[in-house]
Amino acid sequence: MHRTRTLLIALLLALVAGGVATPVVAAPPAGPRHEVGYDRHSLTVDGRRILLWTGEFHYFRLPSPDLWRDVLEKVKAAGFNGVSLYFHWGYHSPKPGVYDFTGVRDVDRLLRMTEELGLYVVARPGPYINAETTGGGLPAWLKQVPGRARSSDPGYTAAYREWLDHLDPIIARHQVTRGGSVIAYNVENEYGANVDPLYMEQLQEKVRADGIDVPVTHNNCCGGDLANWSSGQGAVQIPGVDDYPQSFDCPHPDTTWGPWGAGVTRRLRDDAPVYAAEYQAGAIDLADAGYEKCRQLTGPDYMKVFYKTNVVASGATMFGYYMAYGGTSWGWLPQPNDVYTSYDYGAAITETRGLTTKYDEFKRQGYFATTVAPLTKTDPAAAPVPADPAVHTAARANPDTGTQFVLVGHTDRASAADVTTTLDWSTSDGRYQVPVRVDGRDAKILVAGYDLGGQRLVWSSSEILTHAPIGGRDVAVFHGRDGEDGSTVLRYSSPPTVRVLEGAVRSSFASGDLRLDYRHSGLARVSITGGGRPPLLLLLGTDETAAQFWRVDTGDGTILVRGTELARSARVLGGTVQLRADVAETGDVEVFAPDSARRLAIGGSPVRVGRTPSGSLLGKVTGPHAVVLPALTDWRHRVEAPEAAPGFDDSRWTKAERTTTGSPIKPRTLPVLYSDDYGFHHGNVWYRGHFTPTGSETSLALNAITGKRGVYLVWVNGRYLGSANGGVQADSEPVNPDPGRGDFALPPGLVKPGEPATISVLVENMGHNDDWTADDVRFKQPRGLFGASLAGSGAPISWRVQGAAGGEDLADPVRGPLNTGGLYGERAGWHLPEYADRTWQRADVPSPPGVTWHRTTFRLDLPRGYDVPVVLRFPATARPGQRVLIFLNGWNVGQHLGDQSPQRDYSLPGGVLAEHGTNTLALAVIDTDGTATAPVVSLVAAGVVRGGVPVR
Ligand code: GAL
Repeated sequence: MHRTRTLLIALLLALVAGGVATPVVAAPPAGPRHEVGYDRHSLTVDGRRILLWTGEFHYFRLPSPDLWRDVLEKVKAAGFNGVSLYFHWGYHSPKPGVYDFTGVRDVDRLLRMTEELGLYVVARPGPYINAETTGGGLPAWLKQVPGRARSSDPGYTAAYREWLDHLDPIIARHQVTRGGSVIAYNVENEYGANVDPLYMEQLQEKVRADGIDVPVTHNNCCGGDLANWSSGQGAVQIPGVDDYPQSFDCPHPDTTWGPWGAGVTRRLRDDAPVYAAEYQAGAIDLADAGYEKCRQLTGPDYMKVFYKTNVVASGATMFGYYMAYGGTSWGWLPQPNDVYTSYDYGAAITETRGLTTKYDEFKRQGYFATTVAPLTKTDPAAAPVPADPAVHTAARANPDTGTQFVLVGHTDRASAADVTTTLDWSTSDGRYQVPVRVDGRDAKILVAGYDLGGQRLVWSSSEILTHAPIGGRDVAVFHGRDGEDGSTVLRYSSPPTVRVLEGAVRSSFASGDLRLDYRHSGLARVSITGGGRPPLLLLLGTDETAAQFWRVDTGDGTILVRGTELARSARVLGGTVQLRADVAETGDVEVFAPDSARRLAIGGSPVRVGRTPSGSLLGKVTGPHAVVLPALTDWRHRVEAPEAAPGFDDSRWTKAERTTTGSPIKPRTLPVLYSDDYGFHHGNVWYRGHFTPTGSETSLALNAITGKRGVYLVWVNGRYLGSANGGVQADSEPVNPDPGRGDFALPPGLVKPGEPATISVLVENMGHNDDWTADDVRFKQPRGLFGASLAGSGAPISWRVQGAAGGEDLADPVRGPLNTGGLYGERAGWHLPEYADRTWQRADVPSPPGVTWHRTTFRLDLPRGYDVPVVLRFPATARPGQRVLIFLNGWNVGQHLGDQSPQRDYSLPGGVLAEHGTNTLALAVIDTDGTATAPVVSLVAAGVVRGGVPVR
């Protein structure tokens, strides 16, 4: 009782202080504690070797915690045994001393989910993360803190310690060593230029003092002379390497092939595993080609050649694939110079959570990597020599088991030729001539000398997907390209009985070797019994049929499922396989389960099944019916921007009078007009300038820095004078002392000598630059006006500035610091569902230049037990000059940039979207031309499945 009251008081005090309380109590993870260790080969948990195969996920790019589970389940189902997670300082902290870890920021909940799903976590809390997000994850208020960011400077040190004071206790209690999921902790991010070793050292001291006892890692970038923290002051335990071999050349997906190297992760320390910390699994759309092109650039061919080469050539046993799921840079999350709203990334899982052919490739490689245990400890080995030098091989072997892993690919990595040859292969079971084929851009990892359950695999020219003991026998799935020949040799003490249940497979037995020869086509099934070993069901598929399998590890053993869009989890209860799965279409479903299982239920509904000759259960599932979404009608409209009118009362706005700035970049004119210096960090900012004309003014010269694709609009005495593009940065590279310059002629008679005149300027702030160079020059670039002067007159201008309501003291802590800026409608809550728009006009007419709002509501009642990702679609042909902030139920889900970005579809994630209820859509249109009516938008289903996860 007393304890509860103390907590309540603490909570109240925190709220009164303007802060949002960090959850004070949290249940420790339920699992048992483990010891984490490592050596030159791999991480270990309680002495058991782990091959850590993770995909990167950014919780902050999906503002719907229930959907985190959907993504994490999809990550797990792809064969990943972990996730790499950036934590975003600026996302949690609007103001020094104020931190929020609730709601969409509840990372404790995120880590609990990883524990429930049995996924390891590499925690990556920066403090700097890059990640194409505003400030590279640094909070914008840090721009005002003296001392270089990412250094041991006292100002920055105090600031980042505050972040870690709040975050580290959460991470610490979720470590594997305390029964949780966090297996490693990455400090900083690609900290290579302008480095300060004392900072790296102190950062690790801080992390250790906060109770982090799992291995500390770092992700080095770009090779060359850049620091990699493998030795000396500031060294980490497990230094890793980031590799983006395909570059970000999305416009040329077919011709680009490894311009940034072969992507073989370097070994940085002899006493630690090789760690591919960020390995390219998609791309930012730097050249506005659209993410489908980025997906192609980093598609299955690339994944086969580069990932497999890396596995065999580097011997890495720790992997972070960047990104598994990219998500959405909603609100003002984007770092504007590299990305727009969508952070789909061309990843294996799309922004709307759909599965792609890249997902299939991840599954093929991930199942292999996490099934075949000898891969956790390998050394370089002599590779079998191919008869044709056009084929290249490389090999590794496990020193304890003798298992060999042989990479087979083209000698010229870019070659697309079709080459068939033979490998002269000395395996631990004898010397063999092994036929192989490399057709097009392809690479394979072939295995020899492997104890596969109770079987002995001598060698195979097919690749291993996975295997497990199921129902009293070994079940193994091998695969190869459709139409290619394959051979598999297994060893027995006497001739076994071979029954081909399906497909065309020839078998022969000689000197203890059972040899199977076949052509990969569909799915062949071979039952092998006797021969002194437990029975084996060998499934020989094409790459495609192999990817149809789902491996689900249940408390009752492993289950293989085939035919559903996804399999999330399963249990065997009273003879029934209870499967949680997504179904996209009507068709067969097949389950390989323990003998005791005779029935199947999917999502709680029974599925009629019979037993197949392969011993599996086979039934039929029905796909979802089509879902019709409502048309968006009944709009209401309101023109705003009263700030443009001379009579507008700005007396409560902040006076802009500063003559010094926290930025190392000095303004062109005084006073300093940088919005950050007045506590307005995100979204649009208004300026009003007052001067008394002399009569000789001819024009107004302005500079604004907005970040790429930003604009600013200018009025004098209520008359619109036009707009200009904002700059990206002043000083630095390239040197630009006059960024975002706009000259606005004053029409004769607009201002009169001696009569007070008013300037109104609306400046977009597209987000903050990153700090990749760790030199402050990029990160501490100003936003807002950089210079303002009158040509023809020296009349002084006095300024006031207004950004988001409350500035750093958030008006809406739930949606957080990045949701709204300083548009009039945002300050007045026009984006919020509770706002009453009854007085707004029903007829839409072309609006004047400036800002116009359009609102409507729509009801949804999506079918229960379905997952229907919904997007808001803009027309293919964009209206130039029109920029649209999109608010769904008050959440800023993106900014449509018209012809300035390729994005047309904006994800409306369930949870933000009321899937069973009324939704309010508000569009704030900033129009530089003044000819536009409301954008024509529609709701589109980006996919429909039966299944999904419950979303509140
Ligand atoms: C890396 C960086 C990531 C991300 C990636 C490109 O250099 O560490 O945070 O920016 O590049 O998407």
